[in-house]
Amino acid sequence: MLYSTENSILQKIESDILTNRNIKLYIKRDDLIDSEVSGNKWRKLKFNIEQVRVLKKEGVITFGGAFSNHLIATASASNRAGIKAVGVVRGNELNENSNETLRRCSELGMKLKFVSREEYRLKNDKMYHNELSYEFENHYIVPEGGGNFYGMVGCQEIINEIEVKYDAVFVSQGTTTTSCGILLSLAENAQLYVVPALKGYNSIQEMRDLLNYSIFAEELTEELLQKVIVYSEYHFGGYGSYTIKLLQFIQQFYKNHKVPLDQVYTGKTMFALFSEIENGNFDNKTIVFIHTGGIQGTKFVEQKEGISLFEE
Ligand SMILES: Cc1ncc(COP(=O)(O)O)c(C=O)c1O
Repeated sequence: MLYSTENSILQKIESDILTNRNIKLYIKRDDLIDSEVSGNKWRKLKFNIEQVRVLKKEGVITFGGAFSNHLIATASASNRAGIKAVGVVRGNELNENSNETLRRCSELGMKLKFVSREEYRLKNDKMYHNELSYEFENHYIVPEGGGNFYGMVGCQEIINEIEVKYDAVFVSQGTTTTSCGILLSLAENAQLYVVPALKGYNSIQEMRDLLNYSIFAEELTEELLQKVIVYSEYHFGGYGSYTIKLLQFIQQFYKNHKVPLDQVYTGKTMFALFSEIENGNFDNKTIVFIHTGGIQGTKFVEQKEGISLFEE
């Protein structure tokens, strides 16, 4: 096993609002798995990297934007596994030194192929995959964000590790791979609350597509989707957007609980959870929040809008 998930503890959160409303809140700390292959990244890569060995391939090809957590995680895990890695990056104006993420990917031995936005849109196209396979021989293709069957199966393991009895699970959404994996193993009477980081995202349809495409059982998919509740109004303006209120919440949460959250995914989801708790929607419930990572370690300090995140 390349990475151990033993560090991913279930941390109980204590606060007055939780006590007053008789709510038990636990955070599944997948962000502690590794500083680079953090959160859901190892879950999604685990069986994909195993596929490289099973199919006797030399390496992986994957896709991502300039600041992609998935690209850096793939570079890092491939480096550790001793396999080659190719990253197809959105933006032909970029190069290896354009930012810290790309520099680090390159340092870890990932070959970066910078493509136009138009070409990047072909990321799921079979013909394009054939072209890539011709250029980078004997490589296994992993979709953007690790969003395939193997990524989903890896994410099932997150929820299988939870040993407390729970009523609700909260998780952030990008490609829906993590939430679909969790849904497949969710306890019978529990509900899954998803918070998309993108504005106007059709969570249920995206989940339906991934589940149907991966497990080919439409009736089961519809039955599973009954357990999903979408909080679609916590995107703070859309993917990558944030407000001072969100940053203040993240910093206060770190101060109170020593749990770092990021402003793209987990911060928004935790904000959603506490807002809904204040609305009285979770009284007397036991909730598990899945920490999907997104930050590089707890000593991360960042100046954003005059607010420094972490290191109190
Ligand atoms: C930190 C973090 N949380 C959540 C997500 C969303 O996960 P998914 O794409 O599986 O829906 C991502 C993106 O992969 C992420 O980087």
